[in-house]
Amino acid sequence: MQRPSSPPVSVLSPPQVAVMTFGSSFLALLTLALTVAATPIASSSFVSLPFAKVVNTTGTANIVQKDLARIRALKERTRPVVFEDAASAVSVPITNELVSYIASVGVGSPATTYDLIVDTGSSNTWVGAGTKYKTTSTSVKTSNSVSVEYGSGSFSGTEYTDTVTIGSLVITGQSIGVASRSSGFDGVDGILGIGPLDLTQGTLSPATESTIPTVTENAFTQGFIPSEVVAVSFEPTTSEESQNGELTFGGTDSSKFTGSITYTSLTTTEPASFYWGINESIEYGTTSILSTTAGIVDTGTTLLYIASDAFSKYEKATGATLDDETGLLKISSANFAKLQNLVFTIGGETFTLTPNAQIWPRSLNTAIGGSASSIYLIVNNIGTPSGEGFDFIDGQVFLERFYAVFDTSNNRFGLATTSFTTATSN
Ligand SMILES: *[C@@H]1O[C@H](CO)[C@@H](O)[C@H](O)[C@H]1NC(C)=O
Ligand SMILES: *[C@@H]1O[C@H](CO)[C@@H](O)[C@H](O)[C@H]1NC(C)=O
Repeated sequence: MQRPSSPPVSVLSPPQVAVMTFGSSFLALLTLALTVAATPIASSSFVSLPFAKVVNTTGTANIVQKDLARIRALKERTRPVVFEDAASAVSVPITNELVSYIASVGVGSPATTYDLIVDTGSSNTWVGAGTKYKTTSTSVKTSNSVSVEYGSGSFSGTEYTDTVTIGSLVITGQSIGVASRSSGFDGVDGILGIGPLDLTQGTLSPATESTIPTVTENAFTQGFIPSEVVAVSFEPTTSEESQNGELTFGGTDSSKFTGSITYTSLTTTEPASFYWGINESIEYGTTSILSTTAGIVDTGTTLLYIASDAFSKYEKATGATLDDETGLLKISSANFAKLQNLVFTIGGETFTLTPNAQIWPRSLNTAIGGSASSIYLIVNNIGTPSGEGFDFIDGQVFLERFYAVFDTSNNRFGLATTSFTTATSN
């Protein structure tokens, strides 16, 4: 295939938004952000649009329940799910998203803007959960139904092809799902699926073995980006001020990381290999918590999850206890003062979550049903022992400390430190 030479395209977040509560101010903030973001940031080839972290502080949703429902669905997907089985594949309670990373994506021409969850753990892009789909002259209804089960939610509806605008990328003929039913997606419009292509298999009805080209694949084949690479820059949430999140298609943005990027081959171990799966090992201080094993990196999971045996070791070593209210480990101030580094070895390099990086942002304690004065840990229990090919999930709390590169073209995952790796913002 001919390699186009276009520069990477970045989707930048508004400088002024890190955490927002849902409500009427959300759209107002996004509108404001669009105006601000119209100014080129890195160079004239970088076009930006809001990419914000959104926390639903009005709910009582249990963050761990929601994550575990998702993890079960991910793990149980042992082969491409055929449409007929999709709805019955996993049966779990539906919970609302508590923390979401949202990108504004345009569909149609003129485009209607939708707030879509940025998800590396699924690959269908769909709209209509909130804002209804508005057809334009570029909208083409196909004869297919489309349906995806996420464990913590689901949607079903009709497949269309349409023009999809992500920053300066204007992708034509993109397959999208238009939801007629969805659950678990209050406050957002759908998903921007940037997981592996194969995850789209079995999502169409009549059932077909074929995959549906993702936005990343179409951006590449239509010549807008030089390689199938998506890089993600998340930053820790603070109650203080402006944070930027950035999604870059087709390359990496060196202003978002420090040092060099360490790449590791995607794991061959199933079921982690169905996703953005890698091998890693974890040590707490100098104690081994998890020896080298397979798991996944996932923008759609909030916390960091490790196999139950590893979790027991961590719980014991930290002196933390499980808190019934939040489902999180809770640690005393005295034990927090003694907390050691949590060290991940990935691709032969070490990546460290400092003690501060291991705690839930205290300013958001009450948003998860916790007490403002407590200290909660972001390491949680997958609920199954190690050795099952799905022994960790490096979720948002991990990705907020490192720059992550999802490289389909080279079948690898990259990680680099950032100026937030050792920040004490929590
Ligand atoms: C926030 O969470 C609550 C409780 O889960 C839910 O009822 C509400 O719809 C959510 N709001 C949004 C905007 O997601
Ligand atoms: C990952 O770990 C598995 C199991 O130990 C091993 O078979 C595999 O070669 C490792 N590397 C990759 C890239 O999958």
